[in-house]
Amino acid sequence: MTQDELKKLVAQAALEYVEEGSILGVGTGSTVDFFIDALKASGKSIPACVSSSVRSTQKLQALGYKVLDLNEIDEISVYVDGADEINADFDMIKGGGGALTREKIVASVSKKFVCIADKSKKVDVLGRFPLPVEVIPMAVNAVAGKLRAMGGKPVERDFTTDNGNRILDVGGLQITDPKSMEDAVNAIAGVVTVGLFARRGADVLLLGTPQGVKKFER
Ligand code: 5RP
Repeated sequence: MTQDELKKLVAQAALEYVEEGSILGVGTGSTVDFFIDALKASGKSIPACVSSSVRSTQKLQALGYKVLDLNEIDEISVYVDGADEINADFDMIKGGGGALTREKIVASVSKKFVCIADKSKKVDVLGRFPLPVEVIPMAVNAVAGKLRAMGGKPVERDFTTDNGNRILDVGGLQITDPKSMEDAVNAIAGVVTVGLFARRGADVLLLGTPQGVKKFER
């Protein structure tokens, strides 16, 4: 099966977690795009969504979904999003699509985080995928220097986030203690968000494999 077929498989499986009548948190990325399509095709009734990016908001609205500003609500029951890497403890690297800050905010107010990922995303140790770090534009060089001192190899992405910031993709890291790394990178002046989701990881992992969807719950 192709990677896209595996993504479609987990996107479909995530429908089981969608609570009709509740506001749904929607992440960002190609797997989430398949999820939005599957949601529409399912006919499940959602009063509104909260989205983690302009990209997902536009797709949801084009399909007729109402998208609320997060300031209009207090809590989300279920948040569905993808990942670039996920380990056995449900810690993740996210931000390959550049939406890490809004993803982390939406995840922080969601009761259940359902991660949908094809099998290539499951790893023993996080870090083979370069760690995205969203940075205030004037701090790019300063933050890059601090990340180099931590053993990383930061490369500035040719991309501006929905929040008007820049992204450093940090290679060369073996993230054996994701919570400590998340805290350390967050503490650098000029960092908006690090794409490590360890303090608030996933609660459910739906992993797409050629043998079908494997479900892991905390
Ligand atoms: C976007 C993300 C995505 O969840 C992550 O990049 C996975 O993307 P895809 O589903 O396209 O493989 O964190 O910021």
